[in-house]
Amino acid sequence: MLKYYCVSLMLLILVACGGATTEEMVKDPTRVVYTKYCMSCHGPDGKLMSSGAKDLSISILTEAEVEHRIRKGSNNKVMMAYEGILKDEQIKSLTQYVLKLRK
Ligand code: HEC
Repeated sequence: MLKYYCVSLMLLILVACGGATTEEMVKDPTRVVYTKYCMSCHGPDGKLMSSGAKDLSISILTEAEVEHRIRKGSNNKVMMAYEGILKDEQIKSLTQYVLKLRK
């Protein structure tokens, strides 16, 4: 009896702790990357403008310019270059993610 209690308790803890984030990672891995690397300055919706960051929801940069900015960082070096830190495909999907923040 106690054994079953322990097993179900363990399952519960697993679901409570890991469930949401694991599900989120599978559904939208780019959002997880954005949350980890970009949200501190740009916020969840791109509008935070912390540390002098630009509001991404009203940005007028082209797709190529957004990608370039992510690769090379900002001119004033507040935003670092993510080339070499993120994989090429991550930078590309982040670019799409950033563009979608406008709608
Ligand atoms: C340390 C804070 C910081 C982090 C972290 C950061 N940024 Fe920025 N970002 C800035 C600042 C500051 C600017 C504006 C700099 C400028 O005008 O030269 C900026 C500008 C941008 C721009 C250009 C917007 C425009 O219209 O000019 C894009 C796109 C962008 N960031 C995307 C990202 C993405 C994607 C990430 C995560 C990989 C990220 N940023 C992480 C601070 C940050």
